[in-house]
Amino acid sequence: MREDHQDAVHRVDAARLWQRHMEMAQIGAIPRNGVNRAAFSAEDIRARHLLVSWARARNFSVSQDAIGNLFVRRPGLDPDAPPVMSGSHMDSQPRGGRFDGIYGVLAALEALEAIDEAGVETRRSIELVAWSNEEGGRFAPCTMGSAVYTGARSMDEVVGATDNAGIVLAAALAETLAALPDARQRAFKEPAAAYVEAHIEQGPLLEIQQKTVGVVTGIQGLRWFNIEVFGKTDHAGTTPLKLRKDAVRAAVDIINALRELTHDPADVLRFTVGRMLVTPNSPNSVASHVLFSVDIRHPDAATIRRLGDAVEPLARKAAGVCDVKVTPTLQDDPCAFDKDVVDTIENAANDLGISCMRLASGASHDANYMSRVCPTGMIFVPCENGVSHNEAENAKPDDLAAGARVLTAALLELANR
Ligand code: HGY
Ligand code: MN
Ligand code: MN
Repeated sequence: MREDHQDAVHRVDAARLWQRHMEMAQIGAIPRNGVNRAAFSAEDIRARHLLVSWARARNFSVSQDAIGNLFVRRPGLDPDAPPVMSGSHMDSQPRGGRFDGIYGVLAALEALEAIDEAGVETRRSIELVAWSNEEGGRFAPCTMGSAVYTGARSMDEVVGATDNAGIVLAAALAETLAALPDARQRAFKEPAAAYVEAHIEQGPLLEIQQKTVGVVTGIQGLRWFNIEVFGKTDHAGTTPLKLRKDAVRAAVDIINALRELTHDPADVLRFTVGRMLVTPNSPNSVASHVLFSVDIRHPDAATIRRLGDAVEPLARKAAGVCDVKVTPTLQDDPCAFDKDVVDTIENAANDLGISCMRLASGASHDANYMSRVCPTGMIFVPCENGVSHNEAENAKPDDLAAGARVLTAALLELANR
């Protein structure tokens, strides 16, 4: 590794990186060390302001695109050369942790700061990106900002989404964009030479194998659906069961049928119903309407397609006397990351004497969409017991710093090609 690159890597400051995580964790803090930082919320805006304050202190330029993806750029010698990009997301699950997403944004910032402190000039600019609405917890679907940026989704498809309080995404987005009035406007899908995302593993493998860094080979496939069941509200005490159109009962039958469809003795397949809205949601009224989410994941493309295609017919069959509407909201095939970028990450870890192993990602990430438009890779670091999407999510300062060092070395290598 070049001497100046070594110098930059060693300027990655573990204390500064950890301190910034703790500062960010104050934004949307909830009990037991959790965070609730929904996309396009007041908390999301505060996190954006904090990130921009750190970027501006280093004289990095700031821009944002029409879906609110936020970019921080350190210029390279060749302004016409497509940049190398790195980042993740700052929004969280409703009962999220202090590291999911935000680690990839702060590790990228740490890399930019260390490179700047070392005074290393790179041919290509290096650009941090904080993707909008990766989680999809408030406005479905997930990985929305990166999907729109890369052209996999259009703005028209997403701006009408509403949250549980009936707020329309377009209104929340407008407020978020207005919160950074002097951020340069950025077009979608500008060319990138490569994209590397750092993230906590959100699984137990690195801890079990006692490795510090995961060299991620790809991401499993996922299918999301919203299923609505239409029944008739009635009196719980007087209406005979044989006369009812009970939407909750039909929803339970559909979910049981989906559980049978997705039963996997090898426990590779993932099936989750995480959201359920019942109307009128009263103990003594038969439910007239249920909306519930379906999340199915599998590493094999044919399997995820076969299962996804079976959802609608199966829901109709299991719905009995109720009507049902099945709306597919996400269909991501499994993706394999670029061999050259994966090798670059692994070589960086080995050059730095940081233990690593290759593994696939069970969680989805913005890197899925970036892998369709430029050579892409990911770096994982361990999280305690593999726990995530839970307030107990935890990571070690030294592991976070080690991942940021590998990221710094990989970005420097890619930015000088
Ligand atoms: O759902 C996911 O896999 C990601 O954590 N948003
Ligand atoms: Mn994440
Ligand atoms: Mn997440």
